[in-house]
Amino acid sequence: MENMPYRSNVAGQLIPARPEPVVSSDWRQHLPVIRGSRVTLRELRQDDAPSLFAMLTTEEVSRFISPPPTSVDGFERFIEWTKHQRAAGTYVCYAVTLKGFDTAIGIFQVRELEPGFGTAEWGFAIGSPFWGMGVFQDGAEMVLEFVFETLGVHRLEARAAVKNGRGNGALLKIGAVQEGLLRKSFLKNGQYLDQALYAIVEDDWRAARETRVH
Ligand SMILES: CC(C)(COP(=O)(O)OP(=O)(O)OC[C@H]1O[C@@H](n2cnc3c(N)ncnc32)[C@H](O)[C@@H]1OP(=O)(O)O)[C@@H](O)C(=O)NCCC(=O)NCCS
Repeated sequence: MENMPYRSNVAGQLIPARPEPVVSSDWRQHLPVIRGSRVTLRELRQDDAPSLFAMLTTEEVSRFISPPPTSVDGFERFIEWTKHQRAAGTYVCYAVTLKGFDTAIGIFQVRELEPGFGTAEWGFAIGSPFWGMGVFQDGAEMVLEFVFETLGVHRLEARAAVKNGRGNGALLKIGAVQEGLLRKSFLKNGQYLDQALYAIVEDDWRAARETRVH
């Protein structure tokens, strides 16, 4: 895995951004492009499959998450699936790109836990060359805004394997509160791992945002 042929190339060959098409305001038809200070979030495209395969299938990225697709074809099918789920209004998946570049270096996923997105769960994965650079935080803040303002979520859950130091640290620093421990809830490589259950509730997110603004 560590020596995958195109892993190191992708990190060094980011493709410049091209103009995004004008999009509908209805996220079920097309996800709105969201621009932050470091990253741009946009709809996944079929041609993201090679870079996502390179970024998300390394051992360090996939160690504590559900197994990603194992081939570029598999990612193409995954991307197709995300569009169907988005059109059905049950799920969204944003590609993470660096500001000014077009290459997908990670994803943020949100799925409804009840019809209508009242409660939802999110997950995220970013290529390890881009860890610890503020990419996660910038992307996560925009996803939270989208989740609470556009999807209308009032409670956003996340699960992180207790052993996943960065995953837990990332959730805590974005304002998630650990509510419980799900013992032996996640099967990984034949072993059941404990997971921490986190949530961000809309009221807390709004209060924290007010504090940041003033
Ligand atoms: C989760 C992920 C998106 C976070 O992005 P990131 O760039 O690594 O996150 P950040 O560096 O901004 O934040 C991680 C925080 O955890 C802290 N941390 C806590 N325990 C840690 C540990 N054992 N090792 C490293 N960092 C740890 C870091 O110090 C950092 O906090 P700081 O910025 O205040 O110093 C990325 O690590 C990733 O894609 N991991 C693989 C997939 C995954 O595990 N997804 C999450 C499932 S819940």
